[in-house]
Amino acid sequence: MKQAKVLVTRQWPQVIERKMSEIFDVTFNTSDTPMTQDDIRAAFQNYDAVFPTVSDSIPADAYGVENRRVKLLANFGVGYNHIHIPAAHAAGIAVTNTPGVLTDCTADLAMGLLLCVARRIGEGERELRSGKWVGWRPTHMIGAKVTGATLGIIGFGRIGQAVAQRAHHGFGMKIVFYNRSTVAPEITALTGAQQLGSVTEVMAASDFVSLHCPGGDETRHVIDADALAVMKSTSFLINTARGDVVDETALIAALKNGGIAGAGLDVYAQEPNVPSDLIALENVVLAPHLGSATGATREAMGHMAVDNARAFFDGKTPPNLVRG
Ligand code: DGY
Repeated sequence: MKQAKVLVTRQWPQVIERKMSEIFDVTFNTSDTPMTQDDIRAAFQNYDAVFPTVSDSIPADAYGVENRRVKLLANFGVGYNHIHIPAAHAAGIAVTNTPGVLTDCTADLAMGLLLCVARRIGEGERELRSGKWVGWRPTHMIGAKVTGATLGIIGFGRIGQAVAQRAHHGFGMKIVFYNRSTVAPEITALTGAQQLGSVTEVMAASDFVSLHCPGGDETRHVIDADALAVMKSTSFLINTARGDVVDETALIAALKNGGIAGAGLDVYAQEPNVPSDLIALENVVLAPHLGSATGATREAMGHMAVDNARAFFDGKTPPNLVRG
């Protein structure tokens, strides 16, 4: 397999980079700078496999490059909306991803953002650090109670279910959710979750809404001005899914005019650019795409991506092949 020439587009955990050096003829991105479109095209001509991440946009026209050598895109991450899957498949390029191993950490972060924005932890920390805290008082920085509130989940896959577990069993929250397909009663019974018929119904019924649907054309702006308008003015939106699931302009308007109480965000439409209007708002907690950012999870993602590529170059079906 040493003859497989592969490119890793960003710096990976050291233990995984060492493992890759033993298996493949590998080039690493030692500067850890994002790849340009020209870099991607050149990589498609010079490598058998590319190991991209969410920071590498690979649009449809990248696959038309002359003398294309690449046969596999082994994505480091579960979400793959940055890769144009129909164009990759039309060009005969296999795509793999890393599902499952980042479920817990992403769900943990969603709960962290939820708690942080509801209890005004970011705002409070800013006040304290700037020397403006004048001491305890009964009316200081009053937040929203999380325990016992209703959590709406959009997308009840692995991560949505893991958030429901934490919220229901840890915080006694009532769970309602929207999912495209019907979720089996054995699954919903684990958290007493109730499946509702539309995104709108979930938005209207919830004190907190957490997004867990995949990114891409089908879910772009699922949370638009209309969806935000049905939310309670006391409610909060949490997004650890993908930035373009939310219409950011509409969200900023709702946050500014009191349409909703706040938001906890880990993902943005144009990463790493975050609208300055969002940064200026106190009722938003902003994290820099940290959902899977723990040592154990990033290593597990690396192992999985390598296993996918190993299977591919052994002539087997990779365990996490993206289909359709
Ligand atoms: C994922 O795996 O989808 C994370 O968001 C990082 O890309």
